[in-house]
Amino acid sequence: MTERTFSIIKPDATRRNLTGKVNAVIEDAGLRIVAQRRIRMSDAQAKKFYEVHAERPFYGELVEFMTSAPVVVQVLEGENAVAKYREVMGATNPAQAADGTIRKLYAESVGENSVHGSDSLENAKLEIAQFFTEADIVG
Ligand code: CMP
Repeated sequence: MTERTFSIIKPDATRRNLTGKVNAVIEDAGLRIVAQRRIRMSDAQAKKFYEVHAERPFYGELVEFMTSAPVVVQVLEGENAVAKYREVMGATNPAQAADGTIRKLYAESVGENSVHGSDSLENAKLEIAQFFTEADIVG
C-alpha cells in the first residue's frame, strides 16, 4: 500500500551538511520526498512533538538538542513507507544499526541520531499534520 511517513533530518546532520547525503539514501531506497522544509524548531514545537517522551529522563536533553540548530522536516511517500523508512534509518542506537542505514552511516549517538521517522501510520498522520498542510504535499 502506498503510504506517507514523516521524517526529520536532525540538528547533528544539518550541522555537518549531511542533508543531501541523507536524502540520497532515502531516494535510493525508493522513497519519494513529497514535501520538505528547513526550519528552526521552536521549544513549544519540540515539546509537543516529543510529548510521548515527556516522562523520560532524556526529554529535556532531547528538546534542547532538537532546537539547537535547523532541522529538515519531510513527508516521504512510497510502498509501505512507514516500515521502509524505519529500515532505511536503522536502529535508534547507531551502535546497533545495520550497515548501509542512515544511522550507521551518519549518526553520532543514541540522542544525536541524525533522523527521525514515524513509528506507525497513525503517528505519521499526526506528525505530518503538525508541520504540513495537504497543500504543501506534492506527490
Ligand atoms: P526519535 O526517533 O526521534 O524518537 C525519540 C528520540 O529520543 C530518539 O529518536 C532519540 O533521538 C532520543 N532518545 C532515545 N533514547 C535516548 C537516550 N537514551 N538518550 C537520549 N536520547 C534518546
